[in-house]
Amino acid sequence: MATDVSPRLKLGVNIDHVATLLQARYAPMLDSPNAEPDILAAANEAEANGADSITVHLRLDRRHIQDRDVYDLKEALRVPLNLEMGNTEEILKVALDVKPAYACIVPENRREVTTEGGLNVCNADTSLQRTIDTLQANGTDVSLFIDPEIDQVRAAAKSGAKMIELHTGAFANADVTGCDDELKKIIEAAEVGHSEGLQVNAGHGITIPNLPKLMKTPHLAELNIGHHLVARAIFIGLGQSIREMRQLMDGYTGAAST
Ligand code: PXP
Repeated sequence: MATDVSPRLKLGVNIDHVATLLQARYAPMLDSPNAEPDILAAANEAEANGADSITVHLRLDRRHIQDRDVYDLKEALRVPLNLEMGNTEEILKVALDVKPAYACIVPENRREVTTEGGLNVCNADTSLQRTIDTLQANGTDVSLFIDPEIDQVRAAAKSGAKMIELHTGAFANADVTGCDDELKKIIEAAEVGHSEGLQVNAGHGITIPNLPKLMKTPHLAELNIGHHLVARAIFIGLGQSIREMRQLMDGYTGAAST
């Protein structure tokens, strides 16, 4: 059940940037026999090396992951598929058809390099609530990607979404002193999220160097990590990259000790 916090911190592997590499060379000819790297092979490798779920973001501009990838992954994966998506009719239609185990709703801006901020659940229009309800009625548990702010956490709980994913980007990009302030916000948000009955996940900008500090956050159920895993894979391979992250995460105790 989504609200059960496993004692083992789960690792969701985001493979968008495997698709980014594929697109960099083969965008006009994805059906070429030479097209690589193979998205499904990457997902299989992630599964075999400790991924508890696989995340892909089907963006409106289809800059990396394509519709076909989402369908193929749903069919092939043994672990749950987490579909990251903007709140749009077009992507909702795909999500309702594919029925991923989870959908993480993110704000999406065409020009951004990556997801920039959290959803503003406090001031969302009625379409967000409709999307949450429609997805969950269709068997997909919804996570809302939000900044670590108490008001946003409470609004997420009110929406009936099963999970939140706390945006760790500000923490990851802060300098040494700034990151303590950002960590404090994440810890508070996690505590409130947990007390509201939400499954608390976190993601964005997580790396092996910044993870030990982030693991002081209580009540975390899952981390979603992409870029760092794929970047390190260039040097040590995807399997090893995931195994090393997994090993570090296995030290998570779930207790705040700041
Ligand atoms: N979670 C969400 C909601 C994201 O948008 C992203 C970036 O695609 C991630 C996690 C993973 O972030 P990163 O690639 O920095 O590990």
